[in-house]
Amino acid sequence: MGTILEARNITKIFPGVRALDNINFSLGEGEIHAICGENGAGKSTLNKVLCGVYPHTDYEGDLLIDGEVSKFKHIADAERKGIAIIHQELSLFNLLSVTENLFVGHEINNGGILDKNAMAKEAYKWIDWLNLEGVLPSMLVGDLGVGKQQLIEIARAIRLTGVRILILDEPTASLTEKETELLHGILMKLRDEGTSIIYVSHKLDDVMELCDKVTVFRDGESVGSADIKDITQDELVGMMVGREISEMYPVMGELPGDEVIFEMKNFNVRERMTHKQVVKDVSLSIRKGEIFGLYGLVGAGRTELISTAYGSDRYIGDGQVFWKGKPLKVKSPVDSLKAGIAYSTEDRKVYGIIPTMSVQKNTTIQFIKSFVNFLSIDKNLEVTRTEEMVDNLGIKTATIETKIVNLSGGNQQKVLLARNLISDIELLILDEPTRGIDVGAKQEIYTIMRELVKSGVTILMISSELPEILGMSDNVGVMHRGRLTCVLDNRAENLTQEMIMEKAAGI
Ligand SMILES: Nc1ncnc2c1ncn2[C@@H]1O[C@H](COP(=O)(O)OP(=O)(O)OP(=O)(O)O)[C@@H](O)[C@H]1O
Ligand SMILES: [Mg+2]
Repeated sequence: MGTILEARNITKIFPGVRALDNINFSLGEGEIHAICGENGAGKSTLNKVLCGVYPHTDYEGDLLIDGEVSKFKHIADAERKGIAIIHQELSLFNLLSVTENLFVGHEINNGGILDKNAMAKEAYKWIDWLNLEGVLPSMLVGDLGVGKQQLIEIARAIRLTGVRILILDEPTASLTEKETELLHGILMKLRDEGTSIIYVSHKLDDVMELCDKVTVFRDGESVGSADIKDITQDELVGMMVGREISEMYPVMGELPGDEVIFEMKNFNVRERMTHKQVVKDVSLSIRKGEIFGLYGLVGAGRTELISTAYGSDRYIGDGQVFWKGKPLKVKSPVDSLKAGIAYSTEDRKVYGIIPTMSVQKNTTIQFIKSFVNFLSIDKNLEVTRTEEMVDNLGIKTATIETKIVNLSGGNQQKVLLARNLISDIELLILDEPTRGIDVGAKQEIYTIMRELVKSGVTILMISSELPEILGMSDNVGVMHRGRLTCVLDNRAENLTQEMIMEKAAGI
C-alpha cells in the first residue's frame, strides 16, 4: 500500500510552546492510523496542520499528499484534496436542524434555489446509515445527546464528496459503547473502501481494537510508530508516558461510616422545552466520606439528575434535597456552592471554562467567589494555589497567565478539576472526571480523589467508564432510562463489569 500523506519535519511554535518539534508522520492508503500521546503532546496541533486550520506559512516543514508538496492556505484547500476533520470540540450549530447542520456550507441547489426536499431526503439516508433511532431531519441538533451529535458531525464530514483522508480527534470520548461500536463499524467500512483515517484517542482499548497502526507523540516529538498487531496495550502506555504504570487505582481507604451527608428524595426531572421526563422518582443517599459512583449509559439521566439537584436551571426538577439531614433549598448553583458542594462539569465548553480568562483566573474563580473575604483577596495565595495545582495535575501551560483556550483539550479539563480541588468543599461532584485525560494524568487524578476522601471530603462521581467505577467507588448507583435501578456495595460484593452493565441495560 502506498503512502497517501506525509508530514516532514513539521515544527509549529506558539508563544512559549513548541507544540510540534520536527515531527515526521506518514499515513498509508486505506489504513486506520492512531495518534496517541499525553495531554498537550501535540496531536490536535498536527491535525490542524494537516487540515489547513494553520496555513503553511504558520509552520515549518512540508506536507506531501500523493508525494507532492501541498501548501494549504485555508481549510478549503485541504478539503479540495479530500481531507476532512472532526475536531475534538464539536462544532455543530445547536439551533439548526439536523439537515441544516449536514448541509451548511455545502447546500444542495436547484437553479440557485435551495432544494429543501432533496436535502431532507438525503438527511434521512444519513440518519439511516448512522442507525440513529428516533432522530428526524427536522430536529434541532441541540436537542440531541452528545453521542448523536458526534455521529452527525461525522456524517457531515464524510458527506463532503471524495473524502480520502478522514481525521477524527477523540471521536469516542462521549459515545456509549453501542455508539462506539457503530462508529467503528462505519470507519472500518470506509477503510475497506479505501479511505485513510487518522484516529486520535485516549481510549486505548478503542485504539487496540480498531486501528492498524499507531504513532506516539510526546512533548511535540514523535516517539515512534508501530503496527498494532506487534504491540501490547501496556507497551503503548509505556511509549506514551515514558514510564510504566503498574496500578491505575490507588488502594481503597477505610470503610465509610453510616452518616448520610447528601440525600435526594423522589426526584423528577423534565426537559424544559419538550417537558419530556428524563429522571423518574429517584431517591438516593450518599454517606460522608465515601466515593459514590453513579453509572449509566449516556442518556440514562445521570447528569440531568445531579445537575438539577445542584441548582442548574437547564431542566425542570422537583423533589427534595437534604444536606446533613436538613432540607437544602437551591435556587442556583451558588446556593449549593455556599453549602459546600462543588460540581465539576462534563461539558467544559458549555458550562466550564471562561475562555477569555487566564489559567490562573479559571482555577481560582470559585475559590474567590465563595470563600475569600472580598475586601482582601490574597493575590499571592491565588498564585500559589494555582501553581500547586499546575504542578500536581501536570497541567501543561506556558505560564499561569496563558489564556485557557490556548491549552490542549485535556489540559483545560484538568484546570476545571483544579478549580474544584482547591475550593474548601465537603461534597465534590465529578461528572466524567477523566474524559479526554491521558493515562498518566488519570492515575494522578485518582490519587488526588483518594487523598481528598482521606481528608474528609465526600465524592459523587458520575462516570461511563466501568473500570473507573469499579476501581474507585465504595457504592455504585446504576441508572437506566431515568430510573435508579439499584445501588451496589462495591466493598462487600465482588462486583464485575458485567453485573453493572446488566443493570445499566435494564436487565
Ligand atoms: N492556539 C494556541 N496558542 C498557544 N498554545 C497552544 C495553542 N494551541 C495549542 N497550544 C499548545 O500546544 C501544545 C499542544 O497542544 P495540542 O492541543 O496539540 O495537544 P493534544 O496532544 O491534542 O492534547 P489533548 O490530549 O489534551 O487534546 C500544548 O502545550 C498547548 O497548550
Ligand atoms: Mg487534542
